[in-house]
Amino acid sequence: MKSRATIHRDFAIAQIDDRLYSAFIEHMGRAIYTGIYEPDHPTANADGFRQDVLELVRGLKIPAIRYPGGNFVSAYKWEDGIGPQADRPVRLDLAWRSKETNQVGINEFAKWARDAEIEMMLAVNLGTRGIEEARNFVEYCNHPSGTYWSDLRRSHGVDQPYGVNMWCLGNEMDGPWQIGHMEAKEYGRLADETSKAVKAFGKGIETVVCGSSNDQMPTYPDWERQVLEECYENVDYISLHKYFGNNSRDSLNYFAKIEETGRYIQSIGGVIDYVKAKKRAKNDIYICFDEWNVWYHNRAQDSKNWQSWDWPEAPALLEEDYNLEDAIFVGGLLNEFIRRSDRVKIACIAQLVNVIAPIRTETGGPAWATTIYYPYQFASLHGRGTALNVAVDGPRYDARVAQDVNYLDVAAVLAPDGRSITIFAINRSPDATMDLDLALHGFDGLGLIDHQVMGGNSADARIANTAAQPDRITPRKGEKLAVADGRVTGELPAFSYSVIRLS
Ligand code: AHR
Repeated sequence: MKSRATIHRDFAIAQIDDRLYSAFIEHMGRAIYTGIYEPDHPTANADGFRQDVLELVRGLKIPAIRYPGGNFVSAYKWEDGIGPQADRPVRLDLAWRSKETNQVGINEFAKWARDAEIEMMLAVNLGTRGIEEARNFVEYCNHPSGTYWSDLRRSHGVDQPYGVNMWCLGNEMDGPWQIGHMEAKEYGRLADETSKAVKAFGKGIETVVCGSSNDQMPTYPDWERQVLEECYENVDYISLHKYFGNNSRDSLNYFAKIEETGRYIQSIGGVIDYVKAKKRAKNDIYICFDEWNVWYHNRAQDSKNWQSWDWPEAPALLEEDYNLEDAIFVGGLLNEFIRRSDRVKIACIAQLVNVIAPIRTETGGPAWATTIYYPYQFASLHGRGTALNVAVDGPRYDARVAQDVNYLDVAAVLAPDGRSITIFAINRSPDATMDLDLALHGFDGLGLIDHQVMGGNSADARIANTAAQPDRITPRKGEKLAVADGRVTGELPAFSYSVIRLS
């Protein structure tokens, strides 16, 4: 199978916002407790945070992290998580039928985020609570001193304000499962007023309003229209969520869900433009894709478990064993975010540790990188700069979710130095090697710096990394590409993900 592709240095899509490679972590399952925080673990520091996990997190160079939920946030009292740990209440978490000990709250999490060199992106509870609690939370976090909430923070040993600039206005408020679920207009009004209150704390604060929980919701995309009609001028981003799976064991259809996601982004872009025009608004709103990932391996069983269990503390939940196929999918989805970086400015892999995560742990035992860790890491490390258009001419296929889909899934990023370029290329074919001929125009004397490959054989599609075998699926050096006279030529193995770096 042969594919030709063309890139020109001047044909840019957009400047990529570094926050395209952000993450999300929620108080649920073993994400926080025995995920990032486990005071009895041999690697825990004085604050109780696992350093083996922190090291894996640091390797991802994550720009921002959304916290503390998720469905959890819609019944959460942030005040339960401040002050002496021994005095904190244990509460029932209604979202996941679990016990929340509140041993980690905003100040512990902020310490962890500082050590991980990640900016916090905080969500406020608009399910059981509202404007008052949101403004108190922002004041506790962001105001220097001399007021009730800021002095309370200082009395908790945090002298300097956190200066959190990104605030999410609730979570999935369109979902009937959400505690405090609302109608679009009702939520749009509340989001508008909450956003105004949050932004009153200073310039530079940005807010994210909830879009649909996914593109299959019965209220999609009218939810977005109605919500934005209430709050367009006072918010900066609208959130999109989508989770993926391959229950039908049809890899090509699975990979085509990336095209479907492109349509989702495009449709919401259209709604944004429509509301902007209707309101004669001056400001622009972008997309914050603040929950995305593969979630299907244990989904049905997990759902049965948590709906019937008896309020356990930090139970195993949504612990997916990601395989090679999932890694290729995640690489492709990140490619789509790069290709849509004119609209999508922030995206958060959901989640970070144990719960549908690139990093897994055993309680008291090891931490390891799942297969999806690697494409996420490559995109985060090398996908910063300017997204370039790639014209592709090659074989295509029809799938159930999308037609006329390229076997070659490719994205290109010009680095901030203006000279180096990274190409993320996937050969989706389960059995055919792809002869690639990629022409690069507007560059001088490019040479190959590195080529890393994952996969190469669809027989390995279901192989996962586990605690016992953490390195079954990892990247290796590619040897079948050459660069000469402004062309990358050679072979992309069947069923593979490649990162090709040129300078
Ligand atoms: O990430 C798991 C859950 O998925 C989140 O809590 C919720 O927002 C979404 O439905």
